[in-house]
Amino acid sequence: MNKIFISGVLLLCSLISYGQTSIIMDAKGSDQQISRHIYGHFAEHLGRSIYGGFYVGEDNTKIPHVNGVRKDVIAALKNLNIPNLRWPGGCFADTYHWKDGIGPKDQRPTIVNTWWGGVTENNSFGTHDFLNLCEVLETEPYLAGNVGSGSVQEMMDWVQYTNSKEGNPMSKLRQENGRAEPWQVKYWGIGNEPWGCGGNMDAEFYANFYKQYATYMAEGYLEGGIYRIASGPAGDDYNWTEVLMKKIPLSLMEGIALHHYAVTDWDAKGPSTTFDEKQYFGTMRQALLMNELVEKHSAVMDKYDPEKKIGLVVDEWGGWYEVEPGTNPGFLYQQNTMRDAMIAGATLNIFNNHSDRVRMANLAQTVNVLQAVILTDEEKMLLTPTYHVMEMYKVHQDATLLPLQVKSAEYQLGDDKLQAVWTSASRNKQGVTHISLVNVHASKAQEISIDIKGASYKKLSGRILRSRNLQDYNTFENPNLITPKAFKDAKLRGNTLSLKVPPFSVVVLALE
Ligand code: AHR
Repeated sequence: MNKIFISGVLLLCSLISYGQTSIIMDAKGSDQQISRHIYGHFAEHLGRSIYGGFYVGEDNTKIPHVNGVRKDVIAALKNLNIPNLRWPGGCFADTYHWKDGIGPKDQRPTIVNTWWGGVTENNSFGTHDFLNLCEVLETEPYLAGNVGSGSVQEMMDWVQYTNSKEGNPMSKLRQENGRAEPWQVKYWGIGNEPWGCGGNMDAEFYANFYKQYATYMAEGYLEGGIYRIASGPAGDDYNWTEVLMKKIPLSLMEGIALHHYAVTDWDAKGPSTTFDEKQYFGTMRQALLMNELVEKHSAVMDKYDPEKKIGLVVDEWGGWYEVEPGTNPGFLYQQNTMRDAMIAGATLNIFNNHSDRVRMANLAQTVNVLQAVILTDEEKMLLTPTYHVMEMYKVHQDATLLPLQVKSAEYQLGDDKLQAVWTSASRNKQGVTHISLVNVHASKAQEISIDIKGASYKKLSGRILRSRNLQDYNTFENPNLITPKAFKDAKLRGNTLSLKVPPFSVVVLALE
């Protein structure tokens, strides 16, 4: 009887027990701004990303569009304030010859998309379509140039075509194609994953190639110069960063990329919805590794660039699982659950806290591919949990970072442990402080106390993204299962803010 009573009490305690996390927030601020470009996106010619996702064609009578681009997608992305959009790849970028995608659409050549499904690419969405879309979205284009199968001349011509006002062959060609003024593209990637799909090069070989391209792109017809991004390492290849930093003069480079996907096993990535806690834990471990990767690559960069002139540009990140059953394996179409919300919330907090070096990042990818913010099915569209995280976090864009000291509870599974609470804080230009918190624990809520130093606040409000099950996702039949709601479980007493954050949820607080 006694035993039963004791185990009953223990069971109850474990059901209502909380992890304890304490945070000190320096609300005086810092001299660090969280670049809005950390909240960037990525659209590759891959699966149903461009065709069907963004672009449905000028002649489409079923789906409302502007110049062939879906109106619903434009409205959703405008609501995120997306600061930049990377295009046309990815691996596709190193097979892409931009001149195939200009001029009358019925005269454009077709190619085979060798990386993604072997499908025919008819080039109906090209440079004008993309750059005009960026204007509609009020976002900065980030063009990834072809190094793997292209040429320095081809890249120089692209820069001239997009950026030069007049008086040379490419500006003339652009004008003949109906665009008088240049678009003034600032962000240029020089190749993509040259250690893999971009040419299987080693770091030394690529560094030489890079210098050649970067030299001839020069200022890029842009006041203040263009922003040239060297293709960076995969994950923890610190030698790649070291070689680039050592061999490329700082005057030739503005950023170095980094790619890291939350994948546990490239040969068995696991399902996107029917995963168990072990798979969830493994994915989160990989996602949270981003903290270490950013710190260690930054440390290498610090040796050669102590003034932090060069940005770390994490231009591919996110979860990568098996494709949805019955879909083309080359199209990388996957569902998006609360697990993805955890990846997004924690990763964006990591980037915010390292914004002294991380100047830009691009979630892979925007529509219908990998950790998408939007999924479409013909005329239907839905916003994923990742979308809602991005929307809740947009308050951090260009805000001043507020440093935090975090003593987090742990999330333990078997012998493995992860930090349970991931958070960042900022103050925007209107003086509003925002704190974003993610509890990645699969079953335990967190009692969090925040000691505020250097400011006092009178008003508190908050929003939360949560769902009953980690595996929940929005469907075309039930697109609003997971959406942000008002968060009421926080109290402000003097300089202490106390809150209870449920398992696998994301909270953003506003303090005034
Ligand atoms: O985002 C999908 C692919 O992942 C990209 O094309 C490539 O750069 C990376 O390997």
